Formats: sequence, C-alpha cells, structure tokens
Amino acid sequence: MTPIGIDDIELATSHHVVRLDDFAAANGTDPAKFRLGLGQDEFSFPAPDEDVVTMAAAAAAPIIERSGAEGIRTMLFATESGIDQSKAAGMAVHSLLDLPSQMRIVEVKEACYSATAALQAAVGIVTRSPGQRVLVIASDVARYELDTPGEPTQGAGAVAMLVSADPELLEIEPVSGLNSADVDDFWRPNDSSTAIVDGALSVTAYLDALTGAWTDLSAQGGPAMAEIDRVLYHQPFTKMAKKAQVHLAGLTGEDLDTDIVAGPVPSGSAETGPAGVVSSASDSGSTGPRDTGLATSTLYNRRLGNSYTASLYAGLCSLLDHDEDLAGRRIGLFSYGSGSVGEFFTARVVPGYEQHSSRQAVTAALDARVPLSMDAYRALHATELPSAEDVSTPKVTAGPFRFAGVKGRARIYERS
Ligand code: HMG
Repeated sequence: MTPIGIDDIELATSHHVVRLDDFAAANGTDPAKFRLGLGQDEFSFPAPDEDVVTMAAAAAAPIIERSGAEGIRTMLFATESGIDQSKAAGMAVHSLLDLPSQMRIVEVKEACYSATAALQAAVGIVTRSPGQRVLVIASDVARYELDTPGEPTQGAGAVAMLVSADPELLEIEPVSGLNSADVDDFWRPNDSSTAIVDGALSVTAYLDALTGAWTDLSAQGGPAMAEIDRVLYHQPFTKMAKKAQVHLAGLTGEDLDTDIVAGPVPSGSAETGPAGVVSSASDSGSTGPRDTGLATSTLYNRRLGNSYTASLYAGLCSLLDHDEDLAGRRIGLFSYGSGSVGEFFTARVVPGYEQHSSRQAVTAALDARVPLSMDAYRALHATELPSAEDVSTPKVTAGPFRFAGVKGRARIYERS
C-alpha cells in the first residue's frame, strides 16, 4: 500500500511574547509555579494586526515556496478562534498565498482536536486520489479572561502540513483509537472572546479521553506500547503532557520517561540541544524509564503557550527538530479537544526527515518575539476591535502578512 502522511511541516507564531517571570512578578506569584507547576516559560500573544489567518499564511507560505501548489486541490483549516461565523478563514490564506482557484477550502472545528480530524480527512482524500496533495492548517489564539487560572496558559501559533503520498516526514498508520464524550470542561460561547473553563474537570476529561482512545486503539488491533518509540500529546501546558505520560504508563504498565524541561530553554538552543532536561533515559539502556521524547517534544510549546489545534503538531515539530534518532521509528500521537474528542494514532518517521529541520528558523522566530510589559499586555488583551465600523489596525507585526482592518464589515488582509 502506498504510504500517505506528512510531507512537509512549518510552525509560525505571533509578534509578541509575554514572559511568565514578568507575569509572576506582577501577580505576586512564585515563578516556579509556572515553570515547574505548569511547565511554561512564556506565551505568544498576537499584535493588533495579527490573527489566525496571518499566522496560518506565515506557516503555509514556506511550504508553497518549496514545492509549489501543483496537486493541492484541498485546504482544511482547523481552528477554534475563527474570525467569521460563515466564511472559512482559509479563504483569506488562499488569497494571500495566490493559490489556484481549483480548490475546495473549509474550516473544521472541535476545540483543540480538529486538526487531527483534518489530517485524517486529508489522508482519506489522498488515499482516493494519490496524485493530490492536501494543505492542512491548524491555527489558534488561546485566550482566557484576565486574572483567571487559565490566563498563564494562553498562547498563539499555527502549524501548516502538506499531506501527500510517499511523504518525506511521517507515514500515518491506518489504525486509530477514538473516544468522544459530551462534557462541559471548556467552551467558548458565540458572544465571548475568551474561553470558559472548569480547569480541574478539563484535566480529568483529558485523561479519561486518553484512557478511552488508548483502549480503543488496542481493541482495533493497534500496536502495543512496547512497539511505540515516541509519544506526543496535546499540550495545553507542557505539565499536562507529563500528567498524560504518567497516566499512559499506568494504563500500559510500561516504565516511561516523565521528565520535562526544568527551566527556561536557553536562547541559542538551536545549537545546543535540549538543555535543562532533568534527566534523560536512553532507548537502549536496560535501567530506568524508556525515553519516549517527552522532554524534546515540549521544548517549543513551553515557549509558545497553548496553541489549541496547533499544539500537538507544534510538539511534533519540536520532536522532529530535536531528536536525531527518529528514522523508521513509530510515534504515537494523542490528540485531545475539549467537549470532548480524543484520538490516539500512530505514524512512522521517514529516514531523511532530519534534512527538513526548521530548528534554527523556529528558535529564531521565538527569540525574535517582542516582549510585552504587563500593562501593554493587559491593554492589548482588553482591546476589542469594533466590527460594525471601518477601522485600520496599526502596523506592528514583523511577520510576512498582516490583518489591515475592517472595511464594510469585511476583514482585510495584506502582505506586510
Ligand atoms: P491552577 O489554579 O494553576 O492549579 O490551575 P494549581 O494551583 O493546582 O497549580 C498547578 C500546578 O502547579 C500544581 O501541580 C501545583 O502543585 C503546582 P500539579 O498538582 O498539577 O502537579 N504549583 C507549583 N509548583 C512549583 N512551585 C510552586 C507551585 N505552586 C503551584 N510554587 C489549570 C491549573 C490547568 C487548571 C489552569 O491553568 C487552567 O484552567 N488552564 C486552562 C485549562 C487547561 O489547560 N486544561 C487542560 C486540559 S483540557 C485541554 O487540554 C483542552 C484545551 O486545550 C482546550 C481545547 O481543547 O480547545 C484547554
């Protein structure tokens, strides 16, 4: 059977960053609560002229530059911070990237899970038409109310993936474990720009979905834990991946690594490797827990914050960019979206994947974000753009695309 999966992948984020040490100082909180308690150092925050469209276009542009648009007849845009109730955000990306007219473009939603639904749909399209390629984009701005426990877990980011036959990065395997349950752990009503969350319930709902999806994967004839070399999780905050890993170890009876990075990922980590990892087990060692990539897959996310639909795939970028021993290895991916859906699926890493590393570019983009003072951050957070009158946004972003404002109630985008 022709392998189908991810041929190319890119991560983009916002212009601004909020440093959780500044946040802790302003709130009188011990900074260790964020670094260790949540496993987060910073969160990305969009400039007034950025949103899910500008980040999505910035992520997809290098992929189109590298391999052109030939054979791309579908764009699936996964987001839960959409910019319109009717029109798909992907239409603006299509325009910004000058993609061909002969395409179908839709937006998909189920909290943080929907990028995985889009990815599986893309695999289905390519299975039927192996000459086609599908652009899957996950882009989100995670926003909670000020002065709530969710606030330090905000973030912003986009991941674009090209799905094709004979992919150069990841071959997606056919068996998936699925779990759905109607639960009010996290949601965002139509009239609210911030999410409503029951934090404690959301953590147990996530772990329950992991149990259900793993059990279903086994029932469907999926691989045993011993046959899975690395595991990636949806990362609303990186400590959640650690909680999930402890949970999976309990479910499977396997001794798995549970260490995430203990401190800030140093600037320049593009050259130095995942410094700050508390301890690292080895694949071959007979003593100690097995290294399934928990530490390396959380390096980008602890600087990005929660990027909702993009979060799991930002974890994939981090693993691919930091683990030099992935060729031929099987990765397990657990996708979770509140509400709730969980899916556990697996993929094989294609030899030669390391030639696609974006480590230097991603690290440079994270380092280049402009820090916000707490006053500036709170003012920006409180800003709601009126949609009923024409308005121009200030030119702030250094990214390649910008949201120029609203004209005749329509959102206007342009190249920077
Ligand atoms: P909180 O009030 O910060 O909780 O809320 P806490 O006071 O229990 O502290 C958190 C951890 O920090 C605890 O560790 C403390 O012990 C530790 P844990 O018991 O979890 O291991 N701590 C410290 N550690 C070191 N030094 C210190 C210190 N002080 C405390 N000085 C909560 C945490 C996650 C609930 C909150 O941030 C929240 O509501 N976040 C948003 C919801 C969320 O992310 N849920 C995750 C699962 S749901 C999901 O993933 C879906 C989602 O992405 C949405 C979607 O699907 O679209 C959210």
